[in-house]
Amino acid sequence: MQQLNHIPRLVLIVVALVPSACTLQAADDIAKPPLLVPLPRKIPAPEENPTTKEKVALGRQLFFDPRLSGENTMSCATCHLPEKAFGDGLPRAKGANDKELSRNTPSLLNVGLYATYFWDGRAGSLEEQALGPIQSPDEMNQNLDELVRELSQVPGYRQQFQQVFGTEVSGQSIAKALAAFQRTLITGPSPFDRYLAGDQQALSRSAQRGLALFQGEAGCIRCHQGPLLSDGKFYRLGVSFSDEGLAVVTGKQDDKGRFRTPSLRNIAQTGPYMHNGSLKTLDEVVTFYYRGIPLTAPDGLELDLQPLSGQSFAEIADLVAFLKSLTGDPPKITPPELP
Ligand code: HEC
Ligand code: HEC
Repeated sequence: MQQLNHIPRLVLIVVALVPSACTLQAADDIAKPPLLVPLPRKIPAPEENPTTKEKVALGRQLFFDPRLSGENTMSCATCHLPEKAFGDGLPRAKGANDKELSRNTPSLLNVGLYATYFWDGRAGSLEEQALGPIQSPDEMNQNLDELVRELSQVPGYRQQFQQVFGTEVSGQSIAKALAAFQRTLITGPSPFDRYLAGDQQALSRSAQRGLALFQGEAGCIRCHQGPLLSDGKFYRLGVSFSDEGLAVVTGKQDDKGRFRTPSLRNIAQTGPYMHNGSLKTLDEVVTFYYRGIPLTAPDGLELDLQPLSGQSFAEIADLVAFLKSLTGDPPKITPPELP
């Protein structure tokens, strides 16, 4: 009798709770797609530049070819080294004539997933981006017409451009081939991805606490979200005030010192960090979020973040452990034979 008395009550409670819980869940799913997601296996290409095997092979040759620079001494791979996660390991890049540039060389791993390119977002696609460094006097210092003439004199290239694009060598097709190659620079699953897929053992205890902080109290996920752990938006953290950042592109005073949120994929391999390479280690970066963010900015500008408070010592170690779990196997790219 006692049992019978209990059952109906329990059923009532369950019936009362389940429908509303379901509706809530569904509404949540629609409003908020998950913020932490794995990388896609393949990076989608724009309609006007489909990825093909032959185009990628041509792009890889161009990427490693020093003839792309004015003095025939520098290729894309001089600054984007495959063995350094397609960065250069320097605080700031070294351009033509060993001149130090003002910004850090970004990694090109998974780069095809960004919606805008460069620290200030000034290029809207990889196709648009590619001709920038070739022609910049501080970088590869090359004249585009001259480059097209030079590559047209190489029979192997002439043939390949015909095969891939059905045209002669042109600036536009050089850019397309380079873009197609870069879309293949995808990393394999990291311990973090295995954890997302349900493998509880994939992350250490410390990294799991770091992940909880990342999504919770430390609030990193506000900007570092999506497959790249970047929202692609621009923020002023106060790393430096000497670089205009996004304001170079928009001309707006309020965009001074704003930079695109960088990807955190394979972040343990891509130091030094920040747009100016001013922070050497992940420990320094996370410490910056606790103690380095300035309280005020010049010119009446406001910062997009305030320093974190909390048990910073233990939390920093946990956040760093989490960041280190974001490393997946980089693609194995070796310099090809050049025509
Ligand atoms: C002198 C060193 C140097 C060379 C050579 C160079 N780059 Fe870069 N690259 C950089 C630096 C520095 C940046 C960041 C510049 C900025 O944001 O203003 C960058 C940015 C990029 C980006 C944007 C990445 C992002 O996260 O938005 C891509 C893509 C890229 N380079 C591809 C190339 C390609 C392709 C070549 C060859 C045609 C090349 N680079 C040659 C140093 C170099
Ligand atoms: C308000 C947006 C925002 C939040 C919140 C945020 N970041 Fe960032 N993060 C950025 C931006 C923007 C940069 C680049 C800043 C620059 O170069 O001036 C950056 C840079 C980084 C870098 C260096 C990446 C590189 O390639 O140089 C790491 C690592 C990093 N953040 C981790 C974190 C962690 C961990 C947290 C939480 C404690 C966090 N971020 C919170 C926007 C944010």
